[in-house]
Formats: sequence, C-alpha cells, structure tokens
Amino acid sequence: MKRIGILTAGGDTPAINATVFGAVTRANQLGLEVVGLLRGYESLFDDRVPHVLLNPLFRTIPELDPDYGGSILGSSRKFVDASNVAELDRATQRLRKLRLDGLICVGGDGTLNGLQPLSERIPVVLAPKTIDNDLGLNYPNETDKWVREAIPGSTEFAYRVNPTFVQNSMNHFQLDQMVNYVTPGYATAVFVAVGGIRRLRTTAESHRRICIVEVMGRSSGFIALGCAYGQPDLILVPEVPVDIDQVVDRVQETYRLQRNVLIVVGEGIVDPEGKELGASERSSDPAGNVRLSGAGDRLREMLMSRLGARFFSDLGFNDGADSAIFTRKVGHTQRGGRPVGFDRFHAAQLGGRAVEMLIEGQNNAVSVLQWHSQRGFYVTGYPGNGFRDTWGLIHARSLHPSFYDRERLHVSAVGIDYLLPIFTNCIGPEDVLYIRETRFDSGNLYRRYHSVNTDIEKRTRYAD
Ligand code: F6P
Repeated sequence: MKRIGILTAGGDTPAINATVFGAVTRANQLGLEVVGLLRGYESLFDDRVPHVLLNPLFRTIPELDPDYGGSILGSSRKFVDASNVAELDRATQRLRKLRLDGLICVGGDGTLNGLQPLSERIPVVLAPKTIDNDLGLNYPNETDKWVREAIPGSTEFAYRVNPTFVQNSMNHFQLDQMVNYVTPGYATAVFVAVGGIRRLRTTAESHRRICIVEVMGRSSGFIALGCAYGQPDLILVPEVPVDIDQVVDRVQETYRLQRNVLIVVGEGIVDPEGKELGASERSSDPAGNVRLSGAGDRLREMLMSRLGARFFSDLGFNDGADSAIFTRKVGHTQRGGRPVGFDRFHAAQLGGRAVEMLIEGQNNAVSVLQWHSQRGFYVTGYPGNGFRDTWGLIHARSLHPSFYDRERLHVSAVGIDYLLPIFTNCIGPEDVLYIRETRFDSGNLYRRYHSVNTDIEKRTRYAD
C-alpha cells in the first residue's frame, strides 16, 4: 500500500480535522501518501474528483490543523446507493485513476452504510465522527434487538425493538462492553450546549421564566443527557415519549419552588404515538435523514396551553405564559469551532488507527474508541458488519434505557457513570489558554477572516 484516499462525509463536527491529522501523521511515519477527496462521497461521483495531496514529501500540509473545527476537505450529505452498480463502478474507476490502494471515510452511521458496497471494490475503513454519538452499540449483539415487519401495501419495512431483548440487556449491561463508547465531536457539542444552558439559566432565574433549550442529536438523546452537567431541571430525550402530564407536574412543582425552570429537550423527542414533536417542520437531506426543527417550540405551545396565564398570575406574575416561557436552540454552534482536548486527542488516535487497519489488510471495518474501567480509553478495530442488523441495516445508537431516569426525567446513576470518564478531564489547560489568547486578540479587529477554503482551493487537483 503506497497511496490512500481520505474523505469526510455527513454533518461536520469540531474534531474532523483532528481525525484527518491523526491519519496523515501515521501515514507520514509509514511512508504512505494521503489524498484528501473533497466534499465527502460527492467526490466519488464527480468525474473530475477534486482532491488535495495532504502530505507532499510525507509532510503534513499546514492547512491541516487538528485544533481547527470543521473539515478542510469539506463534506456533503451525498450517500452511496448500493443498488446503483453502474455508478459505483464508475466511482471505482475514478479511485483507480488516482492510484488509491485504500480509502478512509471519516463519518457516522450514514457513511458506514456506504462502506459495504465500496469495500467490494477497494479496501475501506471508517474512522467515526458525529456529535450525536449515535454510531456504536451499547453492547456487542445489540443489532439483534431489531424486529422487522412488512408495511402493508408497501415495499418498505418497519423496524421495532424486541422489548424482551432490551429487558435482558438491562440485567447484564456493562459500560466496558460498549462498542465505540464515544465518538469525537460529542464532547465538544456537549461542552458548547452546557455553556449555553448555564447562561440561559441565570437570565431565566432573574426574569422568573421557563426556558426550553433544544439540542441536536436526531433520535438519540446522548447530547441531551450530557447536558446534565448544566444542571437543567428536566431533560427530555427522544428515546422516551413525552408524557405531557408528567412534564406539567414537574414544571409546576419546580416553578413554585424556584420561580424558574430550565428544560433541555433533544430535537427528536416524540409524543406517546412515536411522532416527533418537531415533525411539523420536517424535511429530509439527500441521504434521507429527517431534518428536525421545532421540538422546543412545540413543547412551549403545549406548556402554554396547559399552564395558561393563570398559573403565573396566581404566583404574582402578570406577564402571561407567552413571555414567561421561551425557547432557545443551541443549533449549529454545537457542531462548529475548536474541539476540546478529549475530542482532539481521541479523534487523532482514531484516524491513525484507521491507517494501521488498512495496512493490516482490514476492510469494511471501523476504528473504534473503547473504554475499560481499569484501562481507560483505547482505540481498536471492529468489523463494519458488526453494526448491521440481520437485514444489513445500520441503526443509530439510542441511549441505553439504564442511562435515563424516567421518573425524575433526568440522567440516571448509570448514565452518570457513563458520562464521567468522558467529561472529567475533557478540557485541557491548552483549551483555557486558547480562549485567553484568541477571544479578544486585537488583531481580530484589523484582519478580516481568512477562510481555509481559499488555501485548499489553491492545492486542489482534478483527475483529468
Ligand atoms: O447528525 C448531526 C446533526 O448535527 C444532527 O444533530 C442534526 O439534526 C443535523 O446534523 C443537522 O444537519 P444539517 O446541518 O445538515 O441541517
């Protein structure tokens, strides 16, 4: 193996460049050339295959900075359609033209879906990234919990979870057995969300308001769960349908006590019928991922109608429910900017491991970040098919039920045990120093922003 490709696909995270950096650093040591393919899977379907040599003479290009968020290679939601054989064959020709002996895809569950068809044409390894932390398994055979049923009058299938299987997993659950314990990008997303929550709390407190903070994560509640560090009063996760009576009771009780309430909601929270609360503004990206928006707003409407102005006026506040309850989305700030130390370090390790796996001859495999109570964090490899159910489908990882306390609507004791190894030392001294040195750098007032895209453009080459 002399020359490999690397691409970054799906939604970005703050730690992608760190992963690519780790891969290129390892490749330099092993004497491998690394070609960065631009704009994720889209590059494979573009005849010109825009690309950049990331290590001419086995030296990493300076634009590849592990401290810098986003991806210098760009990303797209383009997905690999396994049934389109002709298109895949053309993509393979393009990779051959670039003389690539292997490919690393930095991506999440959607990217992993494309790995199988690609692996039949070129050795390919996935290095994980996602802020949602939904790429992984709570326990090794979790894929067997899925039951598939045909949807009458359609060629599609519905998937549901076998409750007995989940119940068994509750009895035997061990954090050490999680496959890909945590994914780079997650810690930084939680770091940003927690900062927002703390700031929102004090303003809700002084204005006697109820604040609903919506965080990302699609149908997985990991980000919402991590927000427990911001000490919200309630956390609503997509895995547990919203029982509005329970929420109203808890909100009233908390408001009466402290005259403010802070509720964290995952963007994918659902009603008792399983319908997303944010589904009113539902749309899909090219990969078919549902774009969720408005769960917090919908919950606000529900609370407004259930509490009414009366609840607040009885307590001496006459502003009405409309101004007393407000919603804020943490939004894309969760996905951008500099990664915290934990993400940077482990992302680079996962990138390096992915290169080693290609060299070792692994294919259709994933470099994963494991945690062991004695050993701490370490990277290893896992077969890509280990993430697929009986029918070959990859499901986003949900919170294990033991992580969430349905009574308190908050993180459970096991959930706390899960979070501690990730976050206890996740911010390094250099992260603090970085804020001191850069936030109010006077140079920022004089220099306009210089986008790394302009430098990458100068290095971009095409297949023809
Ligand atoms: O999967 C990552 C993620 O940030 C989700 O948490 C969120 O729902 C989605 O991507 C948003 O995607 P986009 O920026 O493409 O709308």
